[in-house]
Amino acid sequence: MKQTVLVSGGAGYIGSHTAVELINAGFGVVIADNLSNSDMSGVEGVRKITGVDVPFVNVDCCDKEAFSKVFEQYDFDSVIHFAAYKAVGESVADPMKYYRNNLLSFMNVIDLMREYGRHNIVFSSSATVYGEADQLPVTEQTPRKPATSAYGNTKQMCEDILRDSVAAYEALNGIALRYFNPIGAHPSALIGELPRGVPQNLVPFITQTAAGVRECLSIFGDDYPTPDGSCLRDYIDVVDLAKAHVVAIARMIDGKSKTRYEIFNVGTGNGTSVFELVRGFERVNNLKLNYKVAPRRPGDVVAIWADTALANEELGWKAERSLDDTLASAWAWEKHVRGL
Ligand code: NAD
Ligand code: WQD
Repeated sequence: MKQTVLVSGGAGYIGSHTAVELINAGFGVVIADNLSNSDMSGVEGVRKITGVDVPFVNVDCCDKEAFSKVFEQYDFDSVIHFAAYKAVGESVADPMKYYRNNLLSFMNVIDLMREYGRHNIVFSSSATVYGEADQLPVTEQTPRKPATSAYGNTKQMCEDILRDSVAAYEALNGIALRYFNPIGAHPSALIGELPRGVPQNLVPFITQTAAGVRECLSIFGDDYPTPDGSCLRDYIDVVDLAKAHVVAIARMIDGKSKTRYEIFNVGTGNGTSVFELVRGFERVNNLKLNYKVAPRRPGDVVAIWADTALANEELGWKAERSLDDTLASAWAWEKHVRGL
């Protein structure tokens, strides 16, 4: 077995898929999560898919003393830090909840890595740091725009915390991965996204509407300056995204980083409209979705998709799963969750 990786927030959507891909690539995994936005089904799914009894620690990364026990108990040199709150709207209504959790948990990880002599960290950043970009597709050099939510601000601040920490502490290597719009589920349908309450994101809303849990999908705006009037996004398959973490960790372990702090976009390089996604979902899964056009959602950017050249060239990574397969996997997961 290769080295062990601590996956904080590993019971959640992206973390559980990443744990599977790490194990598939021969790494050991320890999952730490306080289950604030997940339950044990993610960890159990990882164990079932891989056949490995992955260790799980129920811990709040903001509780430094409790979290330090994980560093005492397990021998890992690398961390992938997913643990954060992620609801944009909630972060506007309750910014302190987001600053406290997302910043403190991350600062604790970095402090503990230093105290316990651990070296490599991948941070879950987001395309939200680009805001409404002046040029498309966005490259890693595209200037970040002032954040329009506390959530977005925590991503910018954590990127800066990582940059400054790597600059100051010679033993630390960091990679920030800027995810575009992660969607879909593992092909086994044993793990996937588990939104609590009414989904804010498009694909879970689509699958819940198809399952009859929601009556009707609202398409937020058909009068944008795009070919069909709806917004454009770069929808990245969650398994592809998970694999980007594996190559990022391996890059640092193998000493292949060009600089000790690096940033990579993780997307497909394609912009897909809301209408295209909805029609694709209907076609692939052979069903009709109840939807209507609704007013624009405040805060939405018109269009964003990734320039993925850097990740292609430096990480040797590119998105592989087709949008059709991803949309089929999202529906298979929803059916699994609903017992359909
Ligand atoms: P998720 O909510 O499914 O997973 C996050 C996990 O972290 C959850 O299991 C939650 O219980 C845990 N967690 C939160 N705070 C914690 C704490 N203080 N201590 C321990 N565990 C804690 O979300 P996800 O979609 O898997 O997102 C993972 C990361 O990726 C987050 O940092 C998120 O901001 C980032 N991200 C997500 C998206 C997206 O659209 N899903 C896009 C860009 C970036
Ligand atoms: C996608 C498109 C909506 C729901 C968010 C965060 C971002 C990142 C990913 C974490 C938009 C439209 C949506 C619905 C709709 N998360 N839509 N009806 O807003 O691009 O990004 O998740 O970092 O920070 O902001 O994703 O899935 O909410 O929306 O028409 O019911 O679908 O208007 O055009 P978004 P999304």
